[in-house]
Amino acid sequence: MSKKLWGTRFSKQTNALTNKFTSSISFDQRLAKYDCLGSIAHAKMLGKQRIIPKADSALMVKGLNSILQDLKGGKFKFDLGAEDIHSNIQEALVKKIGKAAFKLHTARSRNDQIALDIKMYIKDEIDNLEGLISELQKAILKLAKKNSEVIIPGYTHLQVAQCVLLAHHLLAYIEGLERDKQRLLDAKARLDVMPLGACAFSGTSLPIDRSYVARELGFKNVTANSIDSVSDRDFIIEALAALSILSVHLSRMAEDLILWSTKEFSFIDIDFSFCTGSSIMPHKKNPDILELIRGSVGKIQGDLSSVLILMKGLPSSYNRDLQLDKPPLFDAIDTVKDILEIFVALFENIVIEKEAIAGRLGDEALFSVDVVEYLIKKGISYREAHDIVGSMVRDCLDKGRKISCLSEKELNKYSPKLKTDVKKILNAWVSVNLKQSYGGTGFTQVNLQLKRWKRLLERRKI
Ligand code: ARG
Repeated sequence: MSKKLWGTRFSKQTNALTNKFTSSISFDQRLAKYDCLGSIAHAKMLGKQRIIPKADSALMVKGLNSILQDLKGGKFKFDLGAEDIHSNIQEALVKKIGKAAFKLHTARSRNDQIALDIKMYIKDEIDNLEGLISELQKAILKLAKKNSEVIIPGYTHLQVAQCVLLAHHLLAYIEGLERDKQRLLDAKARLDVMPLGACAFSGTSLPIDRSYVARELGFKNVTANSIDSVSDRDFIIEALAALSILSVHLSRMAEDLILWSTKEFSFIDIDFSFCTGSSIMPHKKNPDILELIRGSVGKIQGDLSSVLILMKGLPSSYNRDLQLDKPPLFDAIDTVKDILEIFVALFENIVIEKEAIAGRLGDEALFSVDVVEYLIKKGISYREAHDIVGSMVRDCLDKGRKISCLSEKELNKYSPKLKTDVKKILNAWVSVNLKQSYGGTGFTQVNLQLKRWKRLLERRKI
């Protein structure tokens, strides 16, 4: 058991249950690197400002760097009896450099220290997430480009609707993921404000230089209110909200692919190496990865709720409840990173079942809107055109006939404007190519978007 940072004022040892219940070392140990980096900047500042002797500052920096090396090399032994990562690093520094380490906590509290550590951690993780999202976008783009001529029946309400290019569908994922990335980067820009120096919550009488610490640690700015600095965790909530929205996108993508991999759809085949089997049904090849992606997204929504609820009743300034913001934050980040990583690999192992898909494109229901628009182009109002096509579709369904088999006379029964040339548009290629509106599914439009995304994603270093 390491020595408590506040032990002297206490006339008794704390109860073992108190130690166990209040300790956060089991989870905040992952902040060790940031705790050391923050302390190095702080120690340098204390020396520069002559708040402590320069020699002590230099010794602390040396000791902390050596702890950083131990951490990197996996040599650092976390003390599971420590109250938290701050006490653990402080004790480790005492062991390395002796009494000079006692000066490290000058003009600092664990309240501003933990706010700093989490902000540094989130900044780094957002950079990692940005890279992973870009990788996923690239994997999706690759699949889209490889299959840029494939047309699929599109669905609304999960009912056959209209033909679209598969690439168009896949590019929709890329658009959503881009917004997710931008949301995370926005959150990062807002949290890029350095809280150290707020101390417990009111600042300090010592002549600290907060801007120097911010510069040393690569922060854009310093927080302007010491109470706010230790009190709020809106930056965690914001990151979790961005992760939750991203995870909803990932879950919906997983759901599309689960459906597409069913025998009923047969749009895709997922490589065996990314599927699992059944212990009882020998024929099974299940998309468990996608199901687990969909399933674990619930947890991320829970993480966001958990921090929102944690915060809602807290009085201003620091409260120990804030310690519990970390497990949900870590869980959400870990889970999203895992999902992104496996999704990249999965996209590289998807085969598009072109023949099976082509077999579905004969359904004339897919072209009903094209026929409506054919009539509109001949001067018929939208309402009237919808009615004409509606009765034609109904009759064909009732009589088991196809529009493409109707004679000109039969077509004229519905409207004199319906000529046999309408049959030309009962075709997936033609249908898709008619959609030339900006952002539509026409080949030219989709090719423009494929090129745009290639440019945008190539520009991004990952
Ligand atoms: N472990 C705490 C947290 O995660 C930081 C320590 C603050 N403790 C205190 N008694 N002021 O928020």
